[in-house]
Amino acid sequence: MVVITVCVGSSCYIKGAHAVAECFQALISLHKLDARVELKGTFCLDRCKDGVAVTVNGQSLARVTPETAKEAFEKHILTEGGVK
Ligand code: FES
Repeated sequence: MVVITVCVGSSCYIKGAHAVAECFQALISLHKLDARVELKGTFCLDRCKDGVAVTVNGQSLARVTPETAKEAFEKHILTEGGVK
């Protein structure tokens, strides 16, 4: 199971956390990964300056925005996460 955590703290919310989470959820459904990928929300991860704070299995991803969410999902979940 791959666990994606998206910060929904106020700074990340302003930067598009909701759109990032929606993008991830749509991609999880599109790729039929509901049984293999869990999407969770969390409060502030103390990385407020880094765009929307996202972790995959506890490891922080580099700067994620609504514009880069799809690319981040494809790289870190489908390819490196080995769920495809
Ligand atoms: S509000 Fe998201 S890391 Fe601080």
